[in-house]
Amino acid sequence: MKTAKTVMEVRSYVKTWKAEGKTIGLVPTMGFLHQGHGSLIKKAVEENDIVIVSDFVNPIQFGPGEDLESYPRDFEADKKLCERLGADLIFHPEPEEMYDKPCTAVDMTVLSDGLCGSKRPGHFRGVCTVVSKLFNITKADRAYFGQKDAQQLFIIKKMVADLNFDIEIVGCPIIREEDGLAMSSRNSYLSEEERKAALCLYKAVKRGMEIITKNMPAATLIEAMTAVIENEPMARIDYISVVDLEELKELKSIDKPALVAMAVYIGKTRLIDNFLYEL
Ligand code: PAF
Repeated sequence: MKTAKTVMEVRSYVKTWKAEGKTIGLVPTMGFLHQGHGSLIKKAVEENDIVIVSDFVNPIQFGPGEDLESYPRDFEADKKLCERLGADLIFHPEPEEMYDKPCTAVDMTVLSDGLCGSKRPGHFRGVCTVVSKLFNITKADRAYFGQKDAQQLFIIKKMVADLNFDIEIVGCPIIREEDGLAMSSRNSYLSEEERKAALCLYKAVKRGMEIITKNMPAATLIEAMTAVIENEPMARIDYISVVDLEELKELKSIDKPALVAMAVYIGKTRLIDNFLYEL
């Protein structure tokens, strides 16, 4: 497996691969890879001749006071996992390589107005900008994103359609620990006690999936899920929302396919989880 730190290096590999007629799959990550990322890499390896994993903690998607500095990093372990899973190239640039006093950004409206977008202003602008750059740098045919970051997945699909990127976006299911906690690099922040408390997110998801029915008032579902979280003293709800799948706008009644999404603080760690209801 190759490693690249510069855009020029990636471009030169990509040029050769494209000249050989090879298809390229991209797995964008911020590193500290876990089995969730692993599942994206495996799928990319199955579906493409070449797989590029980007490993970059993107500073512009973090807001003031967020965890940019403390975000977990372990590039050597990431390299080993990528190599083992059959990736061809890992792209690990420094922030200066990606951002040289930029004047341009890619922004999104509507889909980024609610859910995490309303709680983390500027976050999706940072995501859309870095993902656009990665698409341009790698010229990938397909890119792989996890359903755990459901709003991000919707936003990237819409960005690709709006800006006519010539790339297929592949959404992949949430990968969970044995006890149900959705895998996340941020789970590494949790103390032993917090790790147990964090299970309340999955319990709330399960409760929501059990009771959701067509035409149910969204407030009834949210109330039931809120009760599960509030039963855990270490948890603090950031939001629990039920939104439609076109514009991610809040639904009053569950009369169409819906995304049920939440963000919950366990101590200082903000975790997210969700499920889709297809009627
Ligand atoms: O989902 C992530 O890890 C990040 O938001 C992404 C897509 C790699 C962009 O930095």
